[in-house]
Amino acid sequence: MDFDLVVRKGNVVTASDIWYDCDIGIKNGKIVAVACSLPAQDGVGVIDAEGAFITPGGIDTHVHLSQMYEASVSSLMKTQITNGKIPDLANYTNDTYETGTRSAVAGGTTTVITFASQLRNDESLVPVLEEYSKLADGQSYCDYGFHMILSNPTKYILENELSMIVEKYGITSVKIYMTYKAFQLRDYEILDVMHAARRVGITTMVHAENADVIDWMTEHLEEQGMTAPYHHGTSRPPIVEAEATNRAIVLAELMDTPILLVHISGAHATKVIRDAQTRLLPVHGETCPQYLFLLADSMKKEGFEGARCVCSPPIREEPADQEAIWTGIKNGTFTTLSSDHAPIIFDHPDGKQRGLAHGGGPQGKFQYIPNGLPGVETRIPLLWSGGVLTGRITPQKFVEITSTNPAKLYGLTNKGTIGPGFDADLTIWYPQEGFKPFKLTNEMLHHAIDYTPFEGIEFKNWPRYTIVRGKLVFKEGQVIGKLGYGQYQRRGKSTLSGPRDQWLSEWRPVYPMN
Ligand code: URP
Ligand code: ZN
Ligand code: ZN
Ligand code: ZN
Repeated sequence: MDFDLVVRKGNVVTASDIWYDCDIGIKNGKIVAVACSLPAQDGVGVIDAEGAFITPGGIDTHVHLSQMYEASVSSLMKTQITNGKIPDLANYTNDTYETGTRSAVAGGTTTVITFASQLRNDESLVPVLEEYSKLADGQSYCDYGFHMILSNPTKYILENELSMIVEKYGITSVKIYMTYKAFQLRDYEILDVMHAARRVGITTMVHAENADVIDWMTEHLEEQGMTAPYHHGTSRPPIVEAEATNRAIVLAELMDTPILLVHISGAHATKVIRDAQTRLLPVHGETCPQYLFLLADSMKKEGFEGARCVCSPPIREEPADQEAIWTGIKNGTFTTLSSDHAPIIFDHPDGKQRGLAHGGGPQGKFQYIPNGLPGVETRIPLLWSGGVLTGRITPQKFVEITSTNPAKLYGLTNKGTIGPGFDADLTIWYPQEGFKPFKLTNEMLHHAIDYTPFEGIEFKNWPRYTIVRGKLVFKEGQVIGKLGYGQYQRRGKSTLSGPRDQWLSEWRPVYPMN
């Protein structure tokens, strides 16, 4: 057997095992051999991984790049998008496919699933997919796929276009919102989406927060002058997430269809998901590093500074919530850990802070702050350093939730583990012995954002090499991959769970013949 590249003597981690002192042989972008000792060959590239862990390349399945989040903007604006560039910073997440995937590979991530987002006035998904394909095509350092956000699930789209996105684009997941004025669906519409998703066999991702509670609380907080960034959290305590999580599970149970609750932040919602899983419902949970490593004091800052850490659901007050998220990782409640990278520049060149209007007054108004945090580059190092190296989780659990499960849940059948036949997507760490811990500063990161919520956190290791389909794309702090090397991934269906054909009444879905 001749190889293109051999990685020598690493400690290879999969979701089930660690093989110490192991060689990996790579040919044509695939892993072709994993062995105790592969024969030396002339002229073959070698990476020395002696004393270092090797984990499957990170798969980040929740990333917002060049995504319009303000749906009131006319779709005419979208036609101005050319050649991967966006017309203005306003209303878009500020990492493009270029800067976002550059940041991904620099943090050990080899595949991202980003969002193609239908806006309220889009009557067809075809132009939406054309738009996002144009943004991403030739503009990515790592492999990528799309989820489809549905904010206007018309009969036409559900009956005619949902099967099209599965068959033509290999998109096997949709995301829906129970909150955000521009995207929010009523329960009736959620049932419509789940009904159609079941028919075509795809997974529905749900952003679960109770929108009416949030709106009511926001209005009443404003009347009382409680508008500082920190009160974003006051307006939506954990029960607001838990109620909507429960409601989403009820709707999914009624429709007998698999769902994934995205970015779960609190103990209460975690318990709701766990209880559903105990009943064997096909319900999955996702959480993110911000809920493991930050607390709400990150929003309690002078003036408007706390706006940097405003996301939904909010970073929680109570250490008990954080602890429950760790427990949910350990006991399997969370299938995946993703970044929810939603990158928005804090100090805009045009003088605005954090995108939209500040809202006035010394502390601004939290309801105008675009939600979301950058984190695609820090996800893998944070969980390795703060989870594995602190003994909170095993290396195998790390691999399971950052790569193997994401691949299975979203049908990336060539990815997610280290074994013969799989894509050679690898993260190679520094040997632990002799690694000098360092405190993160934003200047070390490769995104286009002017801050990181994880500033000052100490890292006990960091990916040394990132390999995407056999190519070294990141080496010792430098992105050396070629822009455009990343390939679009058509995905298959989830291999984790599907409908169970168990019903709550005599009703059954009847689908038209096609
Ligand atoms: O605050 C967040 N999470 N913003 C990103 C959009 C979303 O809801 O996932
Ligand atoms: Zn601006
Ligand atoms: Zn969301
Ligand atoms: Zn998100």
